[in-house]
Amino acid sequence: MSEWNGDIPVLIVGGGMISQEVILPTVFQERKLGRVSDVLVASRRPDTIKKIRELFPNEDFEGYPDPASTADGASRPEAYKDALAKLGPHGVVIVATPDHLHTPVIMEAIAAGRDVICQKPLCLKVQEAHDIDAAAKEKGIYVYTDYHKRHDRAIRSARYRYHQGYLGEMLHGHAWIEERREMPLDIFARWCEQSSSFEYIGVHYADAYFFITGLKPKRLVAFGQKKFLPKHDKDAYDAVQATIEWEDGSVLWIQTSWVCSEHNSALTNQGLQLSGTEGEYWADHKDRNLHYVTQKGGFEHYNPNFFKEYDDWDEDGVTQYVGYGYDSIVQGLNDVRKIDEATVGLAEPERLAKRQEMIAALEDKRPLPSQALIGTAVNEAVRLSVESGSKFVTFDDKFFPHLE
Ligand SMILES: NC(=O)c1ccc[n+]([C@@H]2O[C@H](COP(=O)([O-])OP(=O)(O)OC[C@H]3O[C@@H](n4cnc5c(N)ncnc54)[C@H](O)[C@@H]3O)[C@@H](O)[C@H]2O)c1
Repeated sequence: MSEWNGDIPVLIVGGGMISQEVILPTVFQERKLGRVSDVLVASRRPDTIKKIRELFPNEDFEGYPDPASTADGASRPEAYKDALAKLGPHGVVIVATPDHLHTPVIMEAIAAGRDVICQKPLCLKVQEAHDIDAAAKEKGIYVYTDYHKRHDRAIRSARYRYHQGYLGEMLHGHAWIEERREMPLDIFARWCEQSSSFEYIGVHYADAYFFITGLKPKRLVAFGQKKFLPKHDKDAYDAVQATIEWEDGSVLWIQTSWVCSEHNSALTNQGLQLSGTEGEYWADHKDRNLHYVTQKGGFEHYNPNFFKEYDDWDEDGVTQYVGYGYDSIVQGLNDVRKIDEATVGLAEPERLAKRQEMIAALEDKRPLPSQALIGTAVNEAVRLSVESGSKFVTFDDKFFPHLE
């Protein structure tokens, strides 16, 4: 019988914005709480590893590629495979590469028998979502997509009240999510042409509607504009909008952009309105009625719910991270631990059968691939519609999109 105490080694693949701002602080805090052991970080460039060392000078982690033996400026997109080979027993892989580069890392992790927590969207193509789903089911691997808005109480409450009947039957809704121009111009300068404001952030609200109502999309029409970014040498959409009809005939309009003014009062404008036969939900997910006006930051809307720093209750000078960005990743880590605790020490084929059974029981409760498929299908259909002159796109029974 194993002596394992339930702490999990974690490999984070992709060392960019979300890793630096959310995933690493979460994983380091979980380690402090005794729930995570070794931390490995794999990115493409050694400079990224160096930057992370500067950001977290007191945290121990293994970096790939190793800056000591890799030339500055070199790019090693396969370095994560070395890290995967070093990941200890019970290790989980957190995938935080750009949107279009999730699938190869997920498939590699599944092949190595590792559970996965992936940043949203799971992937950009329906075929890839089916491939991931099939491979994960066959090998009894848990693959969770970090749709953290599901953990925002402002959205969770809509789900609860919808199921309690407060809203009645859905009629229509409107979601808006728009980010500052620094995203495509600076932070995602290398990959904004492979994604869009819809695929990157709009998908949150496609998933939220599915999460709240359980409804699946039937068809959609989408629009995109290229006016600002092409003037900055980017063949990318400034803004993308979609009108999605769901299986019950209700309609959700999602408006997205990533060229908002750099003077915007938060990185992200966002909110959701829903109308049903019995009532309305309305939430501004940016303006939580809390702002700062400071010499340092000017006027800022401040969302205390997402992922923010607070004084630790017990230790002076220690920061505690709290919020739905944290809770979402931890839900994945906790699931992985629970599955491993129930199966550690079992011989094959019992171990595989027990894992498959436990993961199947989570199928309707978590954004496993069969649920993350919805966001991926909407994303692929939106791109198809925009690139076909805004024609309607329908979904078949496996959610492959087709021009109507
Ligand atoms: N959960 C959320 O709400 C949320 C928020 C922001 C971003 N994201 C998602 O997280 C992912 C990453 O976003 P980001 O903001 O960190 O982007 P980013 O561009 O800042 O970082 C991506 C990193 O991945 C690295 N990378 C690329 N190919 C790689 C490979 N083969 N191996 C290892 N590393 C590789 C890049 O070099 C870069 O450091 C995206 O899918 C994005 O949509 C999710």
